[in-house]
Amino acid sequence: MKQTTFAKLRAVDRKLIEAAKDAMETAYNPYSNFFVGAAILTVDGEIVTGSNVENAAYGAVICAERSAIVRASAMGHKLLRRVAVIGRGVGAPTKEVVSPCGLCRQMLFEAAQIAGKDIEVIMSSTDSKKIVVSSIHELLPLGFGPANLGLDLKRFRK
Ligand code: THU
Repeated sequence: MKQTTFAKLRAVDRKLIEAAKDAMETAYNPYSNFFVGAAILTVDGEIVTGSNVENAAYGAVICAERSAIVRASAMGHKLLRRVAVIGRGVGAPTKEVVSPCGLCRQMLFEAAQIAGKDIEVIMSSTDSKKIVVSSIHELLPLGFGPANLGLDLKRFRK
C-alpha cells in the first residue's frame, strides 16, 4: 500500500480516476446521498465504469465497484487489471480515500484469480489530493476464491 499524488500516478491511472470521477455523478443514491464511481481497466485496454445503485430494500444496494465488474462481465470482459475508486458526499468532499467494501473486495479477488494476476486498486479522495495505491491481495489477504474450490479458470483467459 502506498500513498502518492495525482501528478506522480501513471497516465493510465490518472485516466482511470478521471473516468471514475465522471461515473460517480451517475450514482443512484437517494438514501445515502453518497456518490461513488469506479473505473476498471481490462486487460484489453478498455475502461469500464460503474456507480453505486441504491434500493429501498437497503440490502439490495450495489456499490460502484461491483456495478463496474458486473458491467464489464456483461460486456465480455472477465480479465481485469486495475480499478480506480472515488467518492463524495453531497457538498461534502472526502478528505480520505474511498476504499472498496468487503463484498467488492471479494468480487475483485475472484476477478484477480480469473486473470491469474493481482489487480491494482487506486483509491482517491474527492479532490484527488490523497491517493492510495494498493492491490486486491493486499486489501483481502488470505481471501477465499475459486482456487480454494480447485477450479481451473484458464478458459476465461483468452
Ligand atoms: N459504496 C460504494 O459504492 N463503494 C464503496 O466502496 C463503499 C460504499 C456506496 C454504497 C452506498 O450506495 C453508499 O456508498 C453508502 O454506503
